[in-house]
Amino acid sequence: MPDAADYIRRHIRTVPDWPLPGVQFRDITPLLSNPRVFRVLIDQFVHRYFDQKPTAIAGLDARGFIIGSVLAYELNIGFVPIRKKGKLPFSTVEESYELEYGSATVEIHSDAVKPGERIVLIDDLIATGGTMLAGARLLQRLGAEIIEGAAIVDLPELGGSAKLRAAGLALFTLVDFE
Ligand code: PRP
Ligand code: ADE
Repeated sequence: MPDAADYIRRHIRTVPDWPLPGVQFRDITPLLSNPRVFRVLIDQFVHRYFDQKPTAIAGLDARGFIIGSVLAYELNIGFVPIRKKGKLPFSTVEESYELEYGSATVEIHSDAVKPGERIVLIDDLIATGGTMLAGARLLQRLGAEIIEGAAIVDLPELGGSAKLRAAGLALFTLVDFE
């Protein structure tokens, strides 16, 4: 569908000055609540990754869980959550990073992926890239191969996607907002 990205873009709402003054928050909830555009969105990722045969999808807390788990279901593979610190009950490994607004630590269960697994790492949005880089590091520490980092939205002016590519992570995003 040639206009899929534009169709998806038109269903992302911009909320100015949230959660802090100066932040243009790109809200994906209108995308999720519309079944036609939600299906178009998921199909973009299904078509991109079907032939690459990932062994699992890893999703970043929290919005990466929504699209990542549906994608994993469609590809008939497992889903691995990378969670904010303090939520996972078993033994974990962790990485800390800076956000556009604040800082955070993410964790993965130490047995969540096996060495050599081929993972797609997904989130809704790349801003500074800190979240996705932390997630990629966790997967690499467990010995996984990351096929690609994937997101609906890239905010290129914040430099995250460039930073991630410079760090050697292949990236796929559908929509840019300046
Ligand atoms: C948002 C977004 C990404 C991250 C991107 O999540 O969903 O995960 O920020 O920012 P970065 O590229 O600068 O790291 P947030 O941390 O706000 O958490 P939430 O999903 O729980 O709202
Ligand atoms: N996460 C970090 N920056 C964001 C933004 N501008 N919109 C939505 N989610 C974000």
